Amino acid sequence: MENEIRKKRIFSGIQPSGELTLGSYMGAIKSWVDLQDEYDCIYCIVDMHAITVRQNPAELRRRSVAQLAQYIACGLDPQKNIMFIQSHVPQHAELAWILGCYTQFGELSRMTQFKQKSQQHADNITAGLFTYPVLMAADILLYQADLVPVGADQKQHVELTRDIAQRFNGVYSDTFTLPEPFIPKMGARVMSLGNPANKMSKSDPDGCVYLMDKPEDIRRKFKRAVTDSETAVKFDKENKPGVSNLLTIYCAATGKTMEEAEADFAGQGYGVFKPAVADAVVELLRPIREESERLIADKAYLEGIYREGAQHAQYLANKTLAKVQRKIGFAAR
Ligand code: TRP
Repeated sequence: MENEIRKKRIFSGIQPSGELTLGSYMGAIKSWVDLQDEYDCIYCIVDMHAITVRQNPAELRRRSVAQLAQYIACGLDPQKNIMFIQSHVPQHAELAWILGCYTQFGELSRMTQFKQKSQQHADNITAGLFTYPVLMAADILLYQADLVPVGADQKQHVELTRDIAQRFNGVYSDTFTLPEPFIPKMGARVMSLGNPANKMSKSDPDGCVYLMDKPEDIRRKFKRAVTDSETAVKFDKENKPGVSNLLTIYCAATGKTMEEAEADFAGQGYGVFKPAVADAVVELLRPIREESERLIADKAYLEGIYREGAQHAQYLANKTLAKVQRKIGFAAR
C-alpha cells in the first residue's frame, strides 16, 4: 500500500435509523460497489447520527449489525473497504467536540435538514439534532477524505464540512483535506412508489421497498404503485412521474437503457408493466436478501469484520486527531 500511488479516499455512511431500502441500494450502495477498486473507501454505519431522533435500543442494535451484513451482501468486499460502526470509534465524538468550537451557531441554523427535522420532531429538538452536521464533518475530516458520495440532500453538510476545514486550516496551517461532495453519475434517484414527488424513504413503508422484503411484499407494493391515467409506458418525468420512476427502477434492476426499457413495453399497458418491474426487483433483491440472512446468522463473522474495521479506522483517525490536539494546544499525554 505505502508505495502505491495514493488512491483517493472516499468516506460515506448511512444511518441505521430504519431498514435499508431499494433507494439506499440504487442511490448509494450500488455505486459504492463500483468505487471499491478505484478508491480507498471507508463506509460507516452512523449510529451516533441515528440517535439525534429517538430510537428503540434493541432495534438500533439489531439494525446496526444487519446493515453491515447488507453492505456485504450488496457486494462491498470487507477486504477492500473499511466498514465499521461509528460509535466504536470514539475519535468521531472527540473531533466533533473540537470542530463544534470552530462552527458558528448561524451556520448550523441555516442547514435545511435541521430546519426540516426540527419541524418533524418539534417536541424533541435536541442539541444533537442541531450539531449533527458537526459530527458529520468529524466523520469526514478524521479520515482526510477527498470525496464524499452523498445524495443531493446532504450536499449542504459536505459544503459546511469544507468551510470548517478551511477555517481550521487557515488558523492552524494545513491539517484537513478539503472534501468534495461526489454525486455518483450511476446512482439512480428512486422515488416513493406511493408519492413519486418524494424520495423513497425508509419511514414510508408503503412507498418503499426494503432490501429484506419478501417477493410477495415487493409484488404487492409495485401493484399499488402510483402511475397516471394514460396507458403508454414512456419516460417523462414532468408529466408521468410515477411511470418514470418505475422505468428508472426497471433500468437500474436490469441494467437496460431507457430506450431498451421503453421498447420492452411498447404497445403494452401498466397491467403488464408493473408486474414486470416487480419481477425485475424481486430477482435483483433475492440474492441480496438471502446472503444478508445467511450473514446475519453468522454473528461471529460480522463481529470480526466490524471489530477489524473499527481498529483500522481508529488507527487512521488517531493520526488526524493527535495532530489537531497538538495544534490547538492540548497538553501532550
Ligand atoms: N448525514 C448522512 C445522511 O443522513 C449520513 C452521514 C453521516 C454521512 N456521516 C456521514 C454521509 C459522512 C457521508 C459522510 O444521509
